[in-house]
Amino acid sequence: MEIKRPMYMDSHATTPVDPRVLEAMLPYFSETFGNAGSIDHAYGAVAAEAVKKAREQCAHTLNANSEEIYFTSGATESDNIAILGVADQYASKGDHIITCVTEHKAVLDTCKHLQKIGKSVTFLPVDQYGLVDPGAVEDAITDKTVLISIMTANNEIGTIAPIKEIGKIAHKHGVIFHTDAAQAVGHIPMDVKNMNIDLLSFSGHKIYGPKGIGGLYVRSSNPRVKLSPIMFGGGQEKGIRSGTLNVPGIVGLGKALEIAGKEMGKAEKQYRQWTTQMFDAFKDEYPSVMLNGHPTKRLAHNLNVCFPGIESKALLHLLRDDLSISAGSACTTTSVEPSHVLLAIGRTVEESHSAVRFGLGKNNTEKDFVIAIEFIKKAINCILKFK
Ligand SMILES: Cc1ncc(COP(=O)(O)O)c(C=O)c1O
Repeated sequence: MEIKRPMYMDSHATTPVDPRVLEAMLPYFSETFGNAGSIDHAYGAVAAEAVKKAREQCAHTLNANSEEIYFTSGATESDNIAILGVADQYASKGDHIITCVTEHKAVLDTCKHLQKIGKSVTFLPVDQYGLVDPGAVEDAITDKTVLISIMTANNEIGTIAPIKEIGKIAHKHGVIFHTDAAQAVGHIPMDVKNMNIDLLSFSGHKIYGPKGIGGLYVRSSNPRVKLSPIMFGGGQEKGIRSGTLNVPGIVGLGKALEIAGKEMGKAEKQYRQWTTQMFDAFKDEYPSVMLNGHPTKRLAHNLNVCFPGIESKALLHLLRDDLSISAGSACTTTSVEPSHVLLAIGRTVEESHSAVRFGLGKNNTEKDFVIAIEFIKKAINCILKFK
């Protein structure tokens, strides 16, 4: 059987660009290369029109209005703009932010920076599945709280937070609610109105779009959210994100979100079946295997497991030519620190070093996951032989 090696199963780190997305982007690199700000001539007008269409595509998939979508360089920048922007804009109202310990570093480190400059931040714990308790969120609110930032889906363990409930609590107390939805948008239905979301970060390269492009949804009414800019310049994106617009990237992001909006339901069922079967196969062979994350409230394409006693770095090294999976989140793979997410759900340092994350994607087939199971078994048995 011919297979392409190594097989890619790391879609939480990034995804390949969908050929339909690439096709939509290509003209904007060369033929229609205009600056979307130069609307007084044909080149600029065509680019501006393409940006307008992409804004509508993004808004449609999130059930937002197109003027509520702001383009950025990715979810990291969107998180920074949302958190720093609210902290500054609402400083006269209060200086307290609520977030949780399993957030991506783009949120955690932004909040830690705010702490350093004198703001107050509550980092809520999570339960054994990585779920934050909405009751604890409500209890943490004070009259100085200006922002609650809780991610929709965790990038390591795939746990999906009770976002709608948390948003409702935020609104009950007049607090702005931000969610980092980089791993959720395009994978699970997201509806900013229904889910009580005021600010939402998303990224192109997690949804078969290009790298280096993302967006921030900013609610324009009930409540209207105002943000202080964190970058200064030409005043693009209504002054919230200055800098010449990345037109090909924006076109790609719009197309990727449009496709995801139409196709995500189909893939979800398939992924859930495959990840469940994979875990069951591991359990049959290694009864001590542990599932990380919630058994049902999780991203269908995510599987994160600990193989106690098996160093994940050694496993990944053996699998190098066959299977591309991750030992943790991509942003921290160079670090020898145990995953802050796994520690937060109660794994020991040793267990954390035995975790591997699978992120299935559109390019995987039924055959792939069967072969992946065999690759893993072979590599683990090889490690066990030398123990
Ligand atoms: C939950 C989450 N937030 C933020 C980011 C950063 O996204 P970007 O690479 O678009 O800056 C990632 C990417 O790993 C992520 O998974």
